[in-house]
Parts: sequence; structure tokens; C-alpha cells
Amino acid sequence: MQKRNLGAGSLEVSAMGLGCMRLSPGHGTVAGTRQEMIALIRAAVERGVTFFDTAEVYGPFVNEELVGEALAPMRDQVVIATKFGFQIDSEKDPHPVGLNSRPEYIKETVEGSLKRLRVDAIDLLYQHRVDPNVPIEDVAGAVKDLIQEGKVKHFGLSEAGAQTIRRAHAIQPVTALQSEYSLWWKRPEEEIIPTLEELGIGFVPFSPLGKGFLTGTITENTQFDQEDNRGSFPRFSPEARKACDIRSDRARLAPCTETLDRSYSRHHETGAP
Ligand SMILES: NC(=O)c1ccc[n+]([C@@H]2O[C@H](COP(=O)([O-])OP(=O)(O)OC[C@H]3O[C@@H](n4cnc5c(N)ncnc54)[C@H](OP(=O)(O)O)[C@@H]3O)[C@@H](O)[C@H]2O)c1
Repeated sequence: MQKRNLGAGSLEVSAMGLGCMRLSPGHGTVAGTRQEMIALIRAAVERGVTFFDTAEVYGPFVNEELVGEALAPMRDQVVIATKFGFQIDSEKDPHPVGLNSRPEYIKETVEGSLKRLRVDAIDLLYQHRVDPNVPIEDVAGAVKDLIQEGKVKHFGLSEAGAQTIRRAHAIQPVTALQSEYSLWWKRPEEEIIPTLEELGIGFVPFSPLGKGFLTGTITENTQFDQEDNRGSFPRFSPEARKACDIRSDRARLAPCTETLDRSYSRHHETGAP
């Protein structure tokens, strides 16, 4: 397995990461039992994957618990990334009720993540979504405090714009940005990737398989079950799926794949499939 260094802080991770979001309930049908998902995560480590992605909001909470339990025996071999940023009132309703990146809430959230992940420090802590009600400088300042306290090692952002990245980076160096990037979503190439290259920040593309669209399993006749949020995305509407059936387009896809491979090497990106 190839390795990548994320950001100037040289956080070394495997070129291919494992996004764990769909390995626990809350984001579509889980492909097996909890024990099978734990075995899957451990099998990824055996195959050289050292980069694992989760978030407080996945579940919520249960995904961090799963990742924490699965990786506890091999903690020293892996990098665990998690995210804060959604307001979750677990007592009344497990669903997030909005964004919350207030510094005191970030610090409270991190205490929970540390326990669920069974770690002394979070290797990479992302803000999951930019909170328009909290200046990004305050968010970066809160993460800086957590780094100084030894509870967090590296700071990340997710789906942030170029100006936000610059402002955050000026307060606390950003190690990685995580945003959607794949053959059917290349917008980061316009402004984000050049900004990251200039600032020396790593890029972690999420949904590299287009949330399954690029694997050819989705057709115009696919029925999404109630838990599967793809049913609500315009890109997965029956009309969009009818207009773009990837299975009949394999010949046209091949050169795109080569382009993407070259682009991946050039930018030293790391994937979180
Ligand atoms: N930072 C963020 O805001 C953010 C957002 C999304 C994801 N992520 C991270 O990136 C990782 C990978 O993203 P991803 O799972 O969206 O996409 P992906 O890696 O592009 O696709 C994952 C595969 O999961 C299967 N799948 C089953 N149910 C699905 C569903 N409801 N939506 C999408 N895929 C489904 C599909 O398999 P088939 O080919 O069998 O259909 C698909 O090929 C996540 O685990 C998470 O860690 C981060």
C-alpha cells in the first residue's frame, strides 16, 4: 500500500483510506452484522489500510464506537479521523438539529469522541461543516487549544471554501480538507485544490465512487430504501439516472479513469472509499 503525507505536519496515511460511515446504522442498510463490520475494519488494517474515517454524527455516536472497538487492538498502527460540527441532542432526538461549532460545544464533543474511540488523542479532527454563526477563527482557536492540551493531533476542515480555509489556516495550520471529489464531481479542481497546493494542505476526497453511482450498480430502475439518503439527492433522481446510465458508458469512462489516476498522483491525494 502506498503512503501519503497530509499537510505540512506530515501526517502519514495509507493512500487508500476506509470511510466507515456506512458500517453502522443511520446511513442506509448496513451490509452485515456489527461483528462482521468489526472484522471488515480489521481486515482492512491487515491489507495495509492505516487511515480510518468516522464522525460523531454517523449514527450518531455508534459509528465512532464501532471504529473505536475495531481498532483498539491495533491503535498504534492506524490514524483515526473524526468530525464535529452538528448539534445532536441525544436524549430527545438522535438526529442532528443543525450546526454547532461554538468552541465550548467543540470541546464537549471531543470528550465524547475520545471515549467512544477509546483513544487518548484524536489523530485528525475535522470541522464537518462550516457553521455560519461561528467565525472560523474561533473554531480554529478551539482546535488549537485542544492540540495544546494533547487531545487532538491535527486539524481538518470538510466542505470549506477557499477563503475559509485560508482564515482557519492562519490561526491553526490545517492538515487536510475533506470534500467530495470523483469523476462526476470535479469542482474542487477549480479553486480548492490550487489553494491546498499553495498552502501545503492535504486533500481527502469523499464519495470517490460517486456514492455508488460510478460502480455501475445504480440504474434507472433502482429503488432506494427509506434509510438510503440517495433517494433524496437530485443526482439520483429517476430522470438523472435515466439520462446517465454508466453501464452503457463504460467505453467513455475508461479515459476518464486514467485522467483521474494521473490527477491523484499529481496532487498526492488520499481516498476514503
Ligand atoms: N466529510 C463529509 O461530509 C463526508 C460525506 C460523505 C462521505 N464521507 C466519508 O467518505 C466515505 C465514503 O463515502 P460514500 O460512502 O458516500 O461513497 P463512495 O465511497 O463513493 O461509495 C461507497 C459505496 O457504498 C455503497 N453504498 C451503499 N449504500 C449507499 C448509500 N446510501 N450512499 C452511498 N453509497 C452507498 C455503494 O456500493 P454499491 O456500489 O454496492 O452500490 C458505494 O459504492 C464515508 O464512509 C465517509 O467516511 C464524508
